[in-house]
Amino acid sequence: MSEQTAQSQERKKVIFSAIQPTGTITLGNYLGALKNWIKLQEDFNCIYALADLHAITVRQEPAKFRANIYEAYALLLACGVDVEKSLFFIQSHVSTHAQLAWILNCYTQFGELSRMTQFKDKSAKHSDNINAGLFTYPALMAADILLYQADLVPVGADQKQHLELTRNIAERFNGIYGNVFKVPDGYIPKTGARVMSLQEPAKKMSKSDENINSYVAVLDKPEVIMKKFKRAVTDSEACVKYGEGKDGINNLMGIYSAVTGKTYEEIEKEFEGKGYGDFKTAVGEAVVEELRPVQERFSQFIKDKAYLKECYEKSAQIAEKISQRTLDKAVKKIGFVLK
Ligand code: TYM
Repeated sequence: MSEQTAQSQERKKVIFSAIQPTGTITLGNYLGALKNWIKLQEDFNCIYALADLHAITVRQEPAKFRANIYEAYALLLACGVDVEKSLFFIQSHVSTHAQLAWILNCYTQFGELSRMTQFKDKSAKHSDNINAGLFTYPALMAADILLYQADLVPVGADQKQHLELTRNIAERFNGIYGNVFKVPDGYIPKTGARVMSLQEPAKKMSKSDENINSYVAVLDKPEVIMKKFKRAVTDSEACVKYGEGKDGINNLMGIYSAVTGKTYEEIEKEFEGKGYGDFKTAVGEAVVEELRPVQERFSQFIKDKAYLKECYEKSAQIAEKISQRTLDKAVKKIGFVLK
């Protein structure tokens, strides 16, 4: 997107979202967020980022981290993020994010951050590295969103609590200084918002799960995807029906629905009298077909580092200009002396 297009699109509602470029991007990320990112580009002014600053709240191995950033950037282009229509940059390339994050840290309460379930989960998981960044992570996320005066934030259900906090921070700041930030709304899909682990369906599907059978990666080979779905944990009822105590089947139905667009009733009808084996095969095949074109495009993009650079640099330049306006406004209101 050119700066001029970005400006002429200012009347359209603004979308902001980001994803961490750590490890494998999963079917959960894809159905919970990325599929929406692509759709929204048609009607909104979309601004997307790779949240590399968020990623270092957990220790990263440098060479692998860099490779993951390139991979995630290429993969999102392959999913359909289009830099002619949207901005798509690397968070650390736009300095306003870290600057506003510091400011917002000073308007965020210790008690609020202590209640974040992601902080509790991650600090239990990484008990040897409970750093301050892990704790103040939501203030950086608030900065990401508020810098662009975003109206809507497409995310999976796990980010709902962070979004609520973003709204609270914006309202608190506006309450003191007047209307500086737009208070954003979440945009959470009806199906696919919480894709669960294929092995422990009471837990969300996560790229950091040690059991690789628990998640499907967007770049998994077709035979691996099929194998993972065949091994998915279900129940002993052998009846494809949405219901209580059927977390595994509910999850597979959610995935199938998000990929095919079919309702739960339609799915129940389709598999009436059929066993879980048939259903798992159908879910696996639908996912393979959904991801096939993404994987093909990815293999092209990842080879072309020069093209990736051209895309992220162009987007970052425009993002810097747009976000600087909000940062200047906040800085002035607080009482800092402007440069
Ligand atoms: P991250 O990188 O963990 O996840 C990226 C997106 O994928 C969604 N998601 C899921 N959706 C459904 N089922 C799942 N199992 C699942 N796992 C992940 C997430 O909800 C998210 O939308 N803090 C964010 C990144 C971020 C951000 C932001 C998001 C940084 N700044 C500003 C929105 C706005 C994160 O770690 O997402």
